[in-house]
Amino acid sequence: MTSHGARAPRVNGAIRVPGDKSISHRALMLAALAEGSSEIRGILRSADVRSTAAVLRALGVTIPDLDVDVDVVTVAGVGRGGLRASAESLDCGNSGTTARLMAGILAASHFTSTLIGDASLSRRPMRRVATPLRAMGATLEPSAEGGLPMTIHGRTLQGTTWHSETASAQVKSAILLAGLVADVPVEVHEPAATRDHTERMLRARGIDVRTEGNSISLVPGAALRAAATDVPGDPSSATFFSALAAMSDGGTLALEHVGINPTRTGAFDVLVRMGATLKFEAFADAGGEPVARLVVSPGLLGATIIEPHEVPSLIDELPMLACVAARAQGETRVTGAAELRVKESDRITAVVQNLRGVGVDAEELPDGFVVRGSDRPLAGRVVTHGDHRIAMAFGVLSAVSGGGIVVDDPDCAIVSFPGFWELLTHVTR
Ligand code: S3P
Repeated sequence: MTSHGARAPRVNGAIRVPGDKSISHRALMLAALAEGSSEIRGILRSADVRSTAAVLRALGVTIPDLDVDVDVVTVAGVGRGGLRASAESLDCGNSGTTARLMAGILAASHFTSTLIGDASLSRRPMRRVATPLRAMGATLEPSAEGGLPMTIHGRTLQGTTWHSETASAQVKSAILLAGLVADVPVEVHEPAATRDHTERMLRARGIDVRTEGNSISLVPGAALRAAATDVPGDPSSATFFSALAAMSDGGTLALEHVGINPTRTGAFDVLVRMGATLKFEAFADAGGEPVARLVVSPGLLGATIIEPHEVPSLIDELPMLACVAARAQGETRVTGAAELRVKESDRITAVVQNLRGVGVDAEELPDGFVVRGSDRPLAGRVVTHGDHRIAMAFGVLSAVSGGGIVVDDPDCAIVSFPGFWELLTHVTR
């Protein structure tokens, strides 16, 4: 079944989605900590990345204004010991990556800082980084609920071997960055492999980082070199437009220069499994990250089972995949995704409540959801809870299901994807 009955648009053309959010955060942080100056090409100019830039500026790093639309942003590194205490609290906005990765850096910086964030980020769990960083010798004081504000007293740290309970690239990266700044050995064992951008980017800058299965270790002693970053298009952002093309009434959409790091591409595999056609061409390497042109066309979509082992590779894409499932024949089931409950919103409840609100048969599971697809017209008001991925997923679903879905807070897309709505209008015109 496709959404033909409900006036899905045709798609055509070639687009470029904005730069990868995870890589953009890391490019700024590693540029700040390096000796010398680093050029970042294609950085994502979204609210989350601006939060990282603002926090680093408050710590004494000179970072150009991201509003100035130049292709290359140049950051003068201050070196691993070069950050300076900020008189103000460090505002991470809506960005979990800013808060958790900076916690690792600040735990090893010899001064006291306080991380704050917006209402959504303040509720998100910080003990998962506070506990391992305490084991390394820093003092971290999250709020009574375990979130922000979190005060960090940086110290001389010792190395650690940490067995993480959560498959989280942010936790892994916080520990690796603490090890990097303190120049001590760290070893992280993950329950499942998560995105490995930190490891790749550290290696590209001369740091000895070793991966064996789900264990990652950083060997101290090497200088952190300044390096250029060519930020690929964000596969998470590309998923919205791949899903749109998959559900469209015909045509082909090409997405240029998309990151296809295998730790990030689970959603593309799921779209293929559901019946869409995805072709990868023009393979290239962007500073240690694989990129390709992705060409997507629609298919007869059927339901799928998303298994727990796939979840880390598509965690941020589950709201969009749930909306694709709403237009696919049969029952789609996702389990092993309890982490969705502690994202920018409780994404299990937000996805299911909003699907039901627009007329889709869906139900919550403790660690996932079930969606039963149909091709009937959908309509209703979506409550985003300020969550960018809820807004964009339902924006795409609206575009393919008759346009009757209204998103209450479309502007929150700027957290990860400035220009999303304009691009959506452009490709469905
Ligand atoms: C991210 C890791 C993931 C992801 C988030 C970005 C990163 O979070 O959901 O959007 O850049 O490391 P977790 O590490 O909490 O799984």
